[in-house]
Amino acid sequence: MNDKVVLLVGLGNVSKHIIDFLTRMEPNVKIIVATRNIEKAIEKVNEVKISTAILGISSNISYYQMDINNIEDAAKSMKKLDPDIIVNCTVNNNPHKALNHLTFSNDLGYGHFVLWQIGLALNFMKTVRAAGLEDRFIINLSYGDVVNPILKSMDYHIDTAIGNINHIIPRMKMAIKKIKGYELSDIKIKFVGGHYLDLSISYSGQTNGCPYACQILYKNIDVTEDFEFDQLFKLCNLKVAPGKEHNQMAASDCVAIISAYIHNTGFFTHAPGVNGLPGGYPLKVYKHKLSLDLPDGITKEDAIYINQAGLKYDGIEKIEKGGVIVFSDKIYEYLKTNISFDCKYVTPDDYLIKEQELTEKFTKAIGRQ
Ligand SMILES: NC(=O)c1ccc[n+]([C@@H]2O[C@H](COP(=O)([O-])OP(=O)(O)OC[C@H]3O[C@@H](n4cnc5c(N)ncnc54)[C@H](OP(=O)(O)O)[C@@H]3O)[C@@H](O)[C@H]2O)c1
Repeated sequence: MNDKVVLLVGLGNVSKHIIDFLTRMEPNVKIIVATRNIEKAIEKVNEVKISTAILGISSNISYYQMDINNIEDAAKSMKKLDPDIIVNCTVNNNPHKALNHLTFSNDLGYGHFVLWQIGLALNFMKTVRAAGLEDRFIINLSYGDVVNPILKSMDYHIDTAIGNINHIIPRMKMAIKKIKGYELSDIKIKFVGGHYLDLSISYSGQTNGCPYACQILYKNIDVTEDFEFDQLFKLCNLKVAPGKEHNQMAASDCVAIISAYIHNTGFFTHAPGVNGLPGGYPLKVYKHKLSLDLPDGITKEDAIYINQAGLKYDGIEKIEKGGVIVFSDKIYEYLKTNISFDCKYVTPDDYLIKEQELTEKFTKAIGRQ
């Protein structure tokens, strides 16, 4: 039986794609969309019911009003809904596009983005805890390489995030097919590395020195030595539509993990923030168990070390116990000099204050350009 209840908190661009894929792939799943904006929820739910009916599928989808800034009320609702799987699809409005422009050209990484993710992600986890549902399968979409270990450093349990490093795996398989002619289904890649590598490999075809570990198998035989990685990564630089237009990749990550969890398949994939670990890992997804499936010769400690080193390329120097985020000198100096944002580290009490300040300073900087 797979009549599980999936609660999607937040009805934005990614969760809309998740709903579209999940209703088609797992029609027995009951989906509840919890959101602030009921008008938008009604429109989406009706669209899904009509479009699935056209395909002969009877979808089980409903909506619920929820604002996770109001933790007490949201927790009462969440407890009543009693979901098996809870997905954080929320994010605050923020000047994403301007940020891309200001960071990529300067090779700074993405670290300060965490200020636009962590405040709401923390409210999400506080809500889950207040509802007494921390034993459910919990997925966080928000920058999981960094957000999940921060939440873990505050003793919150979170199962996994999605995407990021998983987005270079199909690119690498396509590159291998181009070089060797192998069928994609015969290739298995086990890759350890963080969010920075997704951006640098996918969009500039190189690692810029960011550490990783990788094993390539063809028909289950190790063929890693047959490849020149610089050449492989160059071939991974494939154009996709920018920003939210490519969010169906993230939705696919999420639906694949939900489906594997429900059916207990041991599906092999990659994800960031697995069990609150920093960076990204290859893993198998079972019900109630996410099991790392690392390259031969790489221990869990090695993988964590590689990922911690990778976070620095993304602008995160370290995450300290109790949710203290320390930014790298490079990103700290850049933001201080260019937009007068003076923030070397941030504690949970200041997450929302610093988020607001960063938004204001970025918005002002965009106006100057
Ligand atoms: N890992 C990956 O590969 C990957 C890829 C893409 C995106 N993402 C992440 O996925 C997340 C969602 O992205 P998106 O593009 O879908 O964002 P989006 O379109 O801006 O949607 C965010 C949603 O969050 C809701 N929200 C904000 N505050 C809330 C609150 N207090 N209570 C309840 N809902 C609230 C918003 O609701 P309202 O409509 O009421 O404002 C909005 O619907 C982001 O964290 C993004 O970084 C990850």
